[in-house]
Amino acid sequence: MDEAPYCAERSIALIGLMGAGKSTLGRRLARRIGLPFVDADEEIEAAAGLSIAEIFERHGEPHFRDGERRVLARLIAGPPRVIATGGGAFIDAETRALILERCIAIWLDAEVETLAERVGRRGHRPLLRGKDPRLLLQSLAETRGPIYAEAHLTIRGGALPHEKMVDRIVAALAAR
Ligand code: S3P
Repeated sequence: MDEAPYCAERSIALIGLMGAGKSTLGRRLARRIGLPFVDADEEIEAAAGLSIAEIFERHGEPHFRDGERRVLARLIAGPPRVIATGGGAFIDAETRALILERCIAIWLDAEVETLAERVGRRGHRPLLRGKDPRLLLQSLAETRGPIYAEAHLTIRGGALPHEKMVDRIVAALAAR
C-alpha cells in the first residue's frame, strides 16, 4: 500500500539500540510509503564478504566502524530510501552529521526490558557476546540515549505491534 504521506526528497534513517526494530520496521515502513529499503549492516557484510561477527573477530571493532562510516556515506549519497542503521552508526560524529544534514533521522526508542527480550532470542551480535543483555543495553541506553535524542523525530512504543509502530512513524512524518 502506498499512502504517499511523505515527499521522498531525503532518505529516512532509522536509529536506536539493538533490538529496537530498525530493520523489521524499516522494511514495513518502506513498503508502506513506497520507498526502497536498505539495511546498512547487510551492506557492510556484503562489502566485506564477512558477517559482522566475523569482522569484529578478525579485524576488531575500529575496523568495523570504519567500514560502517564508509557504507553509510555511500547510502546517504544515493537516492532516497529507508535506511536501517546499525545501533552504533549514529554515535559516530561524522555519520551523525551526515544523517542530520541529509536524511530524516528517526529514533526508535524502546524500554531496555523490551530490547533485552528481543536481542536475547538471537546470538549473532558481537557486542552482546558473554554479556548480560539487559545490563549492556542499560549502559548503552545511558551513554547513547542523549545522542540518539538529536534525531529529528522520536518514536516510542517499542512493545507495540509492528503495524502500529509503522502507523506512528507515518503519522510523525506526515505531521512534519
Ligand atoms: C551495533 C549494532 C548492530 C551492529 C553491530 C554493532 C551497535 O546492529 O551494527 O553489532 O554498536 O549497537 P543492530 O542495531 O542492527 O543490531
